[in-house]
Amino acid sequence: MRTEPAGGVVGLLPPERITVAYPLTMTNEFGGIVVEGVARSFGSVQAIRDIDFEAPPGEVTALIGPNGSGKTTLMLIMASLLAPDLGTVRVAGFDPATQPAEVRSRVGWMPDTLGVWDSLTAREVLRTLGALYGLSPADCSRRADELLLTVRLTEFGRQPARVLSRGQQQRLSLARALIHDPQVLLLDEPASGLDPGSRVELRTLLRSLAAQGKTVVVSSHVLSELDEIADRAVFVNRGQSVKTQTLDEAGSQARRYYVQAQPMSALAEALRSYGVRFETRGDSRREEFLVQLGSTAEASWLLRTLVMSDVVVTAFAPAGGALEETYMSLDTDRL
Ligand SMILES: Nc1ncnc2c1ncn2[C@@H]1O[C@H](COP(=O)(O)OP(=O)(O)OP(=O)(O)O)[C@@H](O)[C@H]1O
Ligand SMILES: [Mg+2]
Repeated sequence: MRTEPAGGVVGLLPPERITVAYPLTMTNEFGGIVVEGVARSFGSVQAIRDIDFEAPPGEVTALIGPNGSGKTTLMLIMASLLAPDLGTVRVAGFDPATQPAEVRSRVGWMPDTLGVWDSLTAREVLRTLGALYGLSPADCSRRADELLLTVRLTEFGRQPARVLSRGQQQRLSLARALIHDPQVLLLDEPASGLDPGSRVELRTLLRSLAAQGKTVVVSSHVLSELDEIADRAVFVNRGQSVKTQTLDEAGSQARRYYVQAQPMSALAEALRSYGVRFETRGDSRREEFLVQLGSTAEASWLLRTLVMSDVVVTAFAPAGGALEETYMSLDTDRL
């Protein structure tokens, strides 16, 4: 982490509030996102009360929080589709509230549900969007075909978009967000409705977009899949950002492991003799012990020691993903 010196960077933000893991000047200049102290209400509902958020270029940033925590509201603000009541937002160096055209030309937005024009085919949806972004007719066609192939919808290109299945509509929505090859991608629950194969493809696609230097923001509350996609995570709860963590940090933190052995009584005895505390989970048919371990080194020590003590270990694995572990340790509403 680094804290910018007094005076701040490019005079955008109050210096005392800037604590970022990536140099702010670079985040702005190279197409990243910086959000500081943003708030937004709808009547008496405070959807967002105080969010700080940063998404550097070349990385996938996950926006994580329970239902109603303000993820979509924040994304709409970053996409220039909603104005904040308070705070500072810069997307690729531009303010979405006052420079929406600059922001929209650089941002690909995938909403959580695809609104489709009833009469257009999937290919026409992409070509029409391309035209709205100022692509030439030839480029619209080329890009539409390219993207239909990327999201495996080529055979549905001539089908009305409204008849596509939920997962196919999600994939079309992703293609639509990519039509103008944007620097920044804002994807709201992009994996919802996708089958396992499509989720793997989405992960590969998002990683390759980040590798090209794009800024990718993904909101989700399916934490297990974000472990594989994201480089960093921003956790929000009740409209506030409560923690930022890189995946490296999340992976190396203390976490719970579940352990099973034959018989479980031998495992219990061994754990007690090492002074390792455990909780019992499951039922008599499938009982397992949960142990809290400080690091992967500690986990490998415990596994080795159990095996060397002739305990017949039948299962030994992290009880949840790295981000799930952080999420459960935060004082958030449960999903
Ligand atoms: N247009 C609106 N009018 C009134 N209240 C709204 C509006 N949009 C959002 N809210 C409220 O703001 C809060 C945050 O909503 P938001 O959609 O941003 O949450 P979310 O984190 O995206 O939730 P989910 O995980 O369910 O998608 C909720 O309490 C919601 O009811
Ligand atoms: Mg939402």
